[in-house]
Amino acid sequence: MSAINLDYLVQPDRVHRSVYTDPTLFDLEMEHVFEKIWVYCGHESQVKKPGDYWTLQIGRQPMVMVRGEDMRIHVLYNRCPHRGVMLCGNQSGNTGKHFVCSYHAWSFKLDGRISAIPLAKGYDGTRLTFDDPQASMVPAARVDSYRGFVFASLSPTGPSLTEFLGDSKVAFDDICDRSPEGEVEAVPVCHRVMQRSNWKFFMENQLDALHPSVTHQSTGVPARRVENRLKAEQGKAPLFFHYLSTFASSFDQWDSVQTVNFPNGHGILKAYMGLRPTDPDTLEYEALMKKAYGEAKAEEYLSRSIHHVLVYPYLSVQSPLQQLRCLRPIGPDRTLSEIWHFRLKGVPEAIYRRSLWYFNLVNSPATMINADDLENWTKGQWGLQSKGGDWVSFHREHGRDTETDGVSYSNKGTSEVVMRNQFKAWKAYMQPVVAGAAA
Ligand code: FES
Repeated sequence: MSAINLDYLVQPDRVHRSVYTDPTLFDLEMEHVFEKIWVYCGHESQVKKPGDYWTLQIGRQPMVMVRGEDMRIHVLYNRCPHRGVMLCGNQSGNTGKHFVCSYHAWSFKLDGRISAIPLAKGYDGTRLTFDDPQASMVPAARVDSYRGFVFASLSPTGPSLTEFLGDSKVAFDDICDRSPEGEVEAVPVCHRVMQRSNWKFFMENQLDALHPSVTHQSTGVPARRVENRLKAEQGKAPLFFHYLSTFASSFDQWDSVQTVNFPNGHGILKAYMGLRPTDPDTLEYEALMKKAYGEAKAEEYLSRSIHHVLVYPYLSVQSPLQQLRCLRPIGPDRTLSEIWHFRLKGVPEAIYRRSLWYFNLVNSPATMINADDLENWTKGQWGLQSKGGDWVSFHREHGRDTETDGVSYSNKGTSEVVMRNQFKAWKAYMQPVVAGAAA
């Protein structure tokens, strides 16, 4: 433990490759980061009725989010207190009024409290009693939600959810504000991808404005060619071509966007993918927004300049298109990503389909966009596992960004301030590792 020198591993302009590859560091970041901070569990609409549940992982812990009889949402360890068997083996479902263990049929109320044990007399006179918390499922230490998005923390102490989210909560405001009803609903189908790389590759990539015109050139350039041909032949092209052709923007165009990098590693890639055309569907939608919020507020909501919001260290939200990707790290070289999209309540079906297009055309593992990223991250992991060099470079535009009140604004869109800011947060989260070793 005392061998871990965070100042050596994370330097202002470079980091040591072991932070992506070392199993000991991975275990420590699960313990000191993911199993302490607020982790996204799911959206309230995933568990509408009492007994509805979704299983998920917080750090290395198997958890279940469930709607209680009183309509409160509980997040519990997915573990039977008898002999430890996981209570919910399925991804999701409805468990009725109780969780019932498949091994010896201990049953639990929806808030996790023990309900019944077969042949309970067998425990008479032993130290196991019904009022012993050790006979019940263990709840997450804290559960809270923000605009319908449910989070849990396994630590009883620490910042509140809104303090943790800080400026990144604009992700959820922007998603919900784009609905005339101020709410969204999860589409209960998510793509799940096992990435063969450390979770940090994904988080860095989301705000890495240098890579799209290289990595996604093979998709963006042909899409732009077809889009231009359709425009020349028919006067217009379907909007979804724009989703793909944008990836073929030039280096200069990417350099002209801005990243805003907040404390705790959160960040925003500004710029908006031109989603305010003047077709009848959009005009109908904008009229609904103005009716709901008034002209000025609707304009403010519709013109927010956001492409991605990162909630470090595990969420990427593309709020204008109602997309959310959540990382569940499995090992130093394995990361599960969940890819979700949401319906804006109270909008025409055509507006929903734009979200679905983006979900399927860009974020789906079946597309070249996602597949090309996945290939880079896998090759990145292999490279960092090699002895070909010890350092990962984040020198680009180092010292040339603007910092105000702890927020770093890139002066060039391709600045690696994004990665520098993320590792600043990572180092702060990991400080107890060093403090603990010194004690
Ligand atoms: Fe669950 Fe025995 S392990 S009832």
